[in-house]
Amino acid sequence: MDSRSDGEIAVIGVPVYAGRVPEPAAARLRAGVRGGGRPAILAVVYGNRAFEDALLELRDLALELGFVPVAGAAFIGEHSFSTPQWPVAQGRPDAVDRDKAIAFGRSVRELLEGVSEPADLRPLEVPGNFPYRQGVQPSSICPETDARTCVLCGGCARSCPSGAIALAEGSVLTEPSLCLRCCACTRACPAGSRVMRHEKILEFGRMLSTQYAQRREPEFFL
Ligand SMILES: Cc1cc2nc3c(=O)[nH]c(=O)nc-3n(C[C@H](O)[C@H](O)[C@H](O)COP(=O)(O)O)c2cc1C
Repeated sequence: MDSRSDGEIAVIGVPVYAGRVPEPAAARLRAGVRGGGRPAILAVVYGNRAFEDALLELRDLALELGFVPVAGAAFIGEHSFSTPQWPVAQGRPDAVDRDKAIAFGRSVRELLEGVSEPADLRPLEVPGNFPYRQGVQPSSICPETDARTCVLCGGCARSCPSGAIALAEGSVLTEPSLCLRCCACTRACPAGSRVMRHEKILEFGRMLSTQYAQRREPEFFL
């Protein structure tokens, strides 16, 4: 392959939220990333329920940013709402997923080696519908901190991808409008003080754990 971009290949990965690319992820890509004709490998990670329109949306976004999407993948990761009591895709991605990802990477390499320009490949087709389904709606739901056990280490704030958490005046403050409900803070908390307690999320987690217990496998599109 002798691409305009000197052989550089972009790998763009996003989690799936409500079957879509999370709005903050799309905004960050639009704000800071340009393809310049480079080939892009696209990956979405979902929590064993469904990825719906996310990969299609990511492909369209990659095109909008000036990439040539050459391959797409949908991987499974432990669901944000998974708990030890109500697990959803616990332990994913695992060794089997990693082996499949490596095989996918080799297939993409062979594909690119077979053409002189990535644009010579036929346009990437992935599943999904347009108009896309409705994404995550604004909500005041977010994890809470148990002040009795919190050690104010700041791990929750550091783990938050959207800067929704701050330590001030000896307590943990959360800005609900920024919270993505990814629950990274609950996993980062060494004291177990940061917990998602909202009944709506707990109920959803129980539903996922029972109705989406069957293992789904990564899917690849070339
Ligand atoms: C708000 C929200 C919406 C989600 N929507 C979906 C979904 O539609 N389908 C699915 O299978 N998993 C869904 N998940 C689970 C995530 O896709 C999954 O946990 C992913 O691995 C999260 O990656 P992250 O930990 O990098 O955020 C959702 C998670 C959150 C927080």
